[in-house]
Amino acid sequence: MDNAICMEYVVPGDDFTRAGEASANMKQSLKRLGVPAAAVRRAAIALYEGEINLAIHAGGGRIRVEVTPDTIAMHLEDDGPGIADIPLAMSEGYTTAPAEVRSLGFGAGMGLPNMKKYTDTFEIQSTVGVGTTIDMSVSIA
Ligand SMILES: Nc1ncnc2c1ncn2[C@@H]1O[C@H](COP(=O)(O)OP(=O)(O)OP(=O)(O)O)[C@@H](O)[C@H]1O
Ligand SMILES: [Mg+2]
Repeated sequence: MDNAICMEYVVPGDDFTRAGEASANMKQSLKRLGVPAAAVRRAAIALYEGEINLAIHAGGGRIRVEVTPDTIAMHLEDDGPGIADIPLAMSEGYTTAPAEVRSLGFGAGMGLPNMKKYTDTFEIQSTVGVGTTIDMSVSIA
């Protein structure tokens, strides 16, 4: 894409001390670029949820953000276990997070529903045993 500013992040697996770094960095970068606050907030919420999912459910993954004057486009990919039933995973309250993860405050089953809610486009593709990719974007008003 012409004139896009790109940012790339590697999310480590199962390291909750670092989970949130990519979305926090993107948020700061978008603010510095002068992106309106409402769009920054929505993108940061959605990317935070995606980033946590990479850490908890996929053993880590990769994030690429492309910013144009019109759009914040976020691409997430992992080589994790994949998702067998995407509509079920997308439903509010569904979680496979183990007890020790839930005890840390994760596992409400609201991450994927909120990623869809806070973005303008949201696409998820997954193959069991191969991994998951998510493309989502927030329009800049
Ligand atoms: N990248 C992924 N790879 C494999 N499975 C995933 C991935 N992302 C989500 N899932 C599956 O989809 C379920 C629902 O995800 P969602 O983010 O909505 O909830 P959660 O992560 O369990 O809890 P919360 O996000 O509220 O802390 C997860 O419990 C997991 O089974
Ligand atoms: Mg989640």
